[in-house]
Parts: sequence; structure tokens; C-alpha cells
Amino acid sequence: MAAEKLSTRHLLGIKDINRDDIELIFETADNFKDVINRPIKRVPSLRDITIANIFFENSTRTKLSFELAEKRLSADVVNFAASSSSVSKGETLIDTVNNILAMKVDMVVMRHPYAGAGQFLSRHIKAQIVNAGDGAHEHPTQALLDAFSIRQKLGSVAGKKVVIVGDILHSRVAISNILCLQKLGAEVMVCGPTTLIPKYISSLGVKVEHDLIKALNWCDVANMLRIQLERQDIKYFPSLREYAMMYGLNKQILNSLDKEIIVMHPGPINRGVEITSDVADSKQSIILEQVENGVAIRMAVLYLLASQRD
Ligand code: NCD
Repeated sequence: MAAEKLSTRHLLGIKDINRDDIELIFETADNFKDVINRPIKRVPSLRDITIANIFFENSTRTKLSFELAEKRLSADVVNFAASSSSVSKGETLIDTVNNILAMKVDMVVMRHPYAGAGQFLSRHIKAQIVNAGDGAHEHPTQALLDAFSIRQKLGSVAGKKVVIVGDILHSRVAISNILCLQKLGAEVMVCGPTTLIPKYISSLGVKVEHDLIKALNWCDVANMLRIQLERQDIKYFPSLREYAMMYGLNKQILNSLDKEIIVMHPGPINRGVEITSDVADSKQSIILEQVENGVAIRMAVLYLLASQRD
């Protein structure tokens, strides 16, 4: 039996929540999955709650997913988008604080290019904060929906072997996934070129493998990440073509493995780089299930946080 309440007021990162919190979010998301598959998809759970979605970085999936989750829960939703080019660290966040205070919102869903932006905001405003990605730091709801999708497909996360392939150095999805999967008892490996795997990673208790085929033969699940070119200030590998040859997953490799693995991707996909189209669209891929589960997970997070309000 999971706990009845979350142990935190905000969802800033997986590092701040425990296994009971994750189980509670999953059980709540199970119920919301039933709701979103009904002809009438809206429930009144967040009526009279105002949520601001504040995105300082581009997003398609995550923003749509949060907005849908909020609307399915009958919240009042306001959107605030700023192009990343206009962001100048402290100043813009202080502006954000003042805007939020003036709008009298109850919850803020924020994506920001700087690590720790959500933490900063949570110290200055009363509203509850959900981190929708802060720089290369954390992306907690992505990790929750990824682990939830593994649980749905394989029955549980505990004891499963998951390899995260690609740009670990610049990926908030990788960090949040590692923490979430470990809290649920999975074994985690990271795989990619040496330049894209930070040295500290083994201190998190993950295996490191530079050979893609070995990594894939070890795992039950492969989570293929996008190369975060927008965060790369220097060249970490010779060319995207060479990266694809060394670390791209294609159908031939998939079919040559000893067992049938599950393929995941948080999106957006760069078809032909980290994953080919025939793999992305194959029976082994659960990419679209991840997107569907994202709405249920975000409904669960928002609902549980709202019931923590004082
Ligand atoms: C990820 C992100 O923004 O961190 N995407 C997402 O949230 N769906 C991963 C990525 O951009 O590659």
C-alpha cells in the first residue's frame, strides 16, 4: 500500500522524493489513465485552482501534456512563454516571481534553461512549483512517466535492467531517470562516447559501457536519448553521421540481440541519428505509450500536490 500523501510540497526533482511518493504517484496515475480513456475525460478535482505554465525554453510534448493534464482536472490555466534568447539569469526570474505574485496563481509549472530555477522560485513565492525541466539538471515528470511505462509493459520496475544511451552529460532526462529507476530497484547502465558521459556518473551507482551492442545485450529496456546540440558549446564527437554509426539503434542491431528488448525515447526524436524510423515505429518501441502515460502521470502529480496545499 502506498502512502496517502506526498512527502513534498513541490516537485523540483526526483532527488527530493522517495519510493513511497513514486508508488503513490503511480497508483494515482493508474486511476487517471482510466479517466482519460473514458468518453468524458474531465474530472472536477482541481476546480478553482489556477495553474501557470511558464516555459522559458522550447517544448512541444511536455507543455501540451501538462496543459492537457490541467484541463482534464478542470484547473484554470494561464500560459506564459518567453523565448530563451530573452532570458538573462537572475533578472528574468525575479520578473517571473513578480508576475506570478500578481496573477495569484496556486501552482506553477516551469521549464527553464538554468539548473535550480525551480528551487529559486520555490523560495520566493507561495505557489507550489512543478519542475518541467531545469537546464541539464532534472526533469522529474519525464522520469516518472518513463518508469511508469516500464512498469506497465513489464509488470514492475524492480530488478529490471535499463540502459540509457546517448548524451548523458547534457541530459536532465538521464539524471532524473537514473534516480527514479534506482529508487524503484532497477539496475541502470549508461552508454555513449566517453566525452558525453560525465566522470561523476559512476558515483551514482550506475554501470558505464561504451560499446552499444554489449549494453543492449545486457538490458531489458533501452532508453535512447537525443544529442542535446543546443547545450553543447564544443564538439564532443566528429559528426552526427559518425555518432549514428557508433550509437544509433537500427533494426539490424535490434534483430541481432539475444532477446527482445523494449525501446524508449523521451522525444523529440532525431530519426536516423539516435534511432532509425523502423525502430521508432516497431512493435518493440513504446514511445507513444510514454506520451499517453505522460498525461496521466502529470494529472497524478498535480492532483497530489494540490491536496498538500495549506
Ligand atoms: C526532453 C527534454 O526537454 O529534456 N524532452 C521532453 O521533455 N520530452 C528531452 C530532449 O529534449 O531531448
